[in-house]
Amino acid sequence: MSIERGLSLRPYNSFGLPAQARQLVRIRSDADVRRVLDHPELGRAPKLVLGGGSNTVLTRDVAALVLKVEVSGIRLVEERPDAWIIEAGAGESWHGLVEWTLAHGFPGLENMALIPGTVGASPVQNIGAYGLELKDRFESLDAVDLVTGRSVTLSAHACRFGYRDSVFKQGGFAGLAGKSLITRVRFRLPRPWQPVLGYVDLEKKMAETGVHEPDARQIFDWVCAIRRAKLPDPAAIGNAGSFFKNPVVSAEQCRDIIGRDPHIVHYPLADGRVKLAAGWLIDACGWKGKSIGRAGVYEKQALVLVNRGGASGAEVLTLARAIQESVYGRFGIRLEPEPVVV
Ligand code: EPU
Repeated sequence: MSIERGLSLRPYNSFGLPAQARQLVRIRSDADVRRVLDHPELGRAPKLVLGGGSNTVLTRDVAALVLKVEVSGIRLVEERPDAWIIEAGAGESWHGLVEWTLAHGFPGLENMALIPGTVGASPVQNIGAYGLELKDRFESLDAVDLVTGRSVTLSAHACRFGYRDSVFKQGGFAGLAGKSLITRVRFRLPRPWQPVLGYVDLEKKMAETGVHEPDARQIFDWVCAIRRAKLPDPAAIGNAGSFFKNPVVSAEQCRDIIGRDPHIVHYPLADGRVKLAAGWLIDACGWKGKSIGRAGVYEKQALVLVNRGGASGAEVLTLARAIQESVYGRFGIRLEPEPVVV
């Protein structure tokens, strides 16, 4: 087992924030995790699991042992009459998986094209875009318990998926935050394939092009074009996607807010509550394109904070707090960050 010491994590977080790992071990299999746990010095050390670093804000050097997940491989594991089951290693790139499934004739993930990060991180925050969430295509996953070293398989029910949430983000006795490392994820891609076209941006594409029965490849191309037009590419401009979750408020609270701001973008939920577009709230407070230090609010999507070059994690957090205060001041709504702050 090779232990890397004093390694810069800048290339390993999509925000491009400076931080060092005191010690880092690359994990390529379940057995690699057990080797770490059996190690006399590392076994009991606090641990931080790092995937593609696309949902992490590093604000300091990491004293915990960093486990960098690099489990690879993608394969069809089962062909059922009603679904294809695809398994992917947690270290595979998410977008790479979406491309692989389309190239091999297993459509169903195309609405989630171009989401940055790895396969292993996808269930942690139940990634989602353009009308589809990971939980809609999830079959099961394998994880290793970071205390006992036991491998377990978890169903969707055990993962407790919510909006950008799962058992892997939840702490306390019942949660698994920091307690396990995901090694493989299996996806259920329903047969026959059905397009998911309800999202307004996709409806606009259909109207613009006159294509009303797109195939999966067409939807993939549209989603890539929509994302490229309004979201920064982390390879060019450091960012972690949406920085805040879209807040959910009661119908009464929403009526109040609409009374004051009739244009507010909102979506009614099945349970009577209402989801508000955080990007709109931040935009309405005048933040779009603004910066504090070297951290900024992206010009084309106010929900995305960016590294304008050389920003520290502390600068990103200062900007995030200033945004939270102004949205609270004007709308009485507390925005909750989506990425994990380390
Ligand atoms: N809006 C503004 N100003 C802005 C940004 C947005 O007025 O600066 C308005 C838009 O015009 C639109 C509404 O807010 O009417 C919603 O914007 P958008 O469609 O871009 O989606 P979002 O709610 O901002 C969510 C996800 C994204 C996902 C898109 C598409 C969250 C936190 N974000 O963004 O996910 O790609 O929908 O499905 O749920 C991510 O989680 O990292 C992410 C990028």
